[in-house]
Amino acid sequence: MIRQALKLLEMVELFAGSHLQEVLAAETSEINPGPSLVPIELPDEVSSAQGLMAWQKIFNVVSHPRCINCHVDETNIPMWSGPSFGNEPKRHGMNIQADESRIGAQTLNCATCHQKSLLPNTLEHAPPHTNHDWMLAPVEFAWFGKSSNEICQQMRDPERNGGRDGAGLVEHIIHDIEIQAFIAWSFDPGGNREPAPGTLQQHLDDMALWTTAGMPCPND
Ligand code: HEC
Ligand code: HEC
Repeated sequence: MIRQALKLLEMVELFAGSHLQEVLAAETSEINPGPSLVPIELPDEVSSAQGLMAWQKIFNVVSHPRCINCHVDETNIPMWSGPSFGNEPKRHGMNIQADESRIGAQTLNCATCHQKSLLPNTLEHAPPHTNHDWMLAPVEFAWFGKSSNEICQQMRDPERNGGRDGAGLVEHIIHDIEIQAFIAWSFDPGGNREPAPGTLQQHLDDMALWTTAGMPCPND
């Protein structure tokens, strides 16, 4: 437990240190500078109860439209849900089908409209872009319509989460922020889109707490 916490701390300190500054210094003022993070100070031991409280906040994020519109099931159809798309969730317009490739390789590639770019998203109803090729999350990571317990079980299962342990899950967020990919975008989506709740820093802190607590789930 302590070793894991230390590992997380080292990783986060590394990130908050020189590398981020280099990344930022290399950018011009027109480019979205992206978020910055401070090192996490984790207690040596995090109780299951504290871990579950952190999970509740994580669930509020991962069940938000900005995340679940990409984390969809084997129908391979991205979703348009959340207030900016009206009251009812609907399928992506224009008959978009991501197919098993999750990028629309057999039909119309996502990148035709969602171009890779470091520029901020500003226009309402324009296709959102990030600094990573736009695509659906792998089908095992489907969250749309899933309960808190279901998503929790999936996220802690290395067979269904891309082979990650707790530190790997935290590292995934840090990496996403570093390259300004999807999680960073979800907290700053631009246009008239509602951002994911809270801040990236809080989400990272909650993930560090939850993983250090041993990834407890609501139905354990
Ligand atoms: C023909 C252009 C086009 C293509 C191709 C396209 N999209 Fe989109 N997409 C859009 C537009 C435009 C929007 C924004 C609509 C709005 O905000 O009203 C959008 C929005 C989205 C959203 C919602 C983001 C949010 O705000 O939560 C997701 C998810 C998405 N697209 C996924 C995909 C995926 C995955 C692919 C490839 C399989 C894809 N799109 C292909 C035009 C396209
Ligand atoms: C544009 C589509 C898109 C959006 C938006 C998106 N993701 Fe993902 N997500 C992906 C893809 C693609 C992967 C696979 C990348 C990988 O495993 O390295 C992924 C993987 C993940 C994983 C690792 C696997 C798992 O399920 O345990 C987590 C955690 C995750 N996303 C969290 C989020 C959160 C939190 C948000 C919103 C704040 C979000 N994602 C928004 C596409 C998206």
